[in-house]
Amino acid sequence: MFDKQKKSKSLTPIVVSNLSILLGEIKILDKINCKIHNESIIAILGPNGAGKSMFLKSINGLIGVESRKIYFNSREINDHIRKDMALVFQKPTLLRRTVLENMQFVLEKKNKISNLQITNLLQRVGLDIYKYKPARLLSGGEQQRLSLARALLINPSLLLLDEPTANLDPYSLNLIEEIILDENKKGKTIILTTHDMGQAKRLAKEILFFNKGKLLEQTKAINFFKKPKTKEAQSYINGKILL
Ligand SMILES: Nc1ncnc2c1ncn2[C@@H]1O[C@H](COP(=O)(O)OP(=O)(O)OP(=O)(O)O)[C@@H](O)[C@H]1O
Ligand SMILES: [Mg+2]
Repeated sequence: MFDKQKKSKSLTPIVVSNLSILLGEIKILDKINCKIHNESIIAILGPNGAGKSMFLKSINGLIGVESRKIYFNSREINDHIRKDMALVFQKPTLLRRTVLENMQFVLEKKNKISNLQITNLLQRVGLDIYKYKPARLLSGGEQQRLSLARALLINPSLLLLDEPTANLDPYSLNLIEEIILDENKKGKTIILTTHDMGQAKRLAKEILFFNKGKLLEQTKAINFFKKPKTKEAQSYINGKILL
């Protein structure tokens, strides 16, 4: 009973209501409305500059917080909610320290259990052999895997992944996709952006398709890849330029 009370409330459903972001004169996101359901994997698709990364950042509270248009299980963002989610950036941001220290930095207490968790996670992303290597000397793909491991360390219930496999070789790509599916099975909600249609098909239950700052459709993945609702999405998945 006491434990139940202490357990944090779920962050889902996430309701985005009429979210717009204006940077200078430009509308980066334009009246976005959507609902993200419990424990799903959502893929955000759309051409370069469509607003996908900005959308993830606004969910994470990095931008647009003052507009108060995003509700996490009926609550506005606060420190408690923010601690229960992690955003892995498109470009990894690592400390000028070793791989191990980058992981330890996330934890408040560097006790034995935490170190065991760190070792397990580094093994999961295939980086345990580089524990003492300066993180900035890792290759691009290795840095991306370290960023994911760091995000998983806090065990968030919502994971926001911005092109998590963009620089990865086929082996690492499989590794990360397995981790994503595994974490979803354990109950995490995962929202990821990708330009890899195969990946969206393999992972996503639902697709959000963005173009020019607008959310053009939210469709079940299986239906989206059969026939998207909008002409823009049809052109996009057929590799045509969107005007
Ligand atoms: N700090 C900023 N100031 C001004 N414009 C910005 C800023 N950050 C992003 N933008 C613009 O916002 C738009 C959306 O950018 P965003 O990074 O969300 O695109 P994206 O869909 O993630 O594209 P990609 O597939 O290339 O990663 C772009 O036109 C970009 O130039
Ligand atoms: Mg982006």
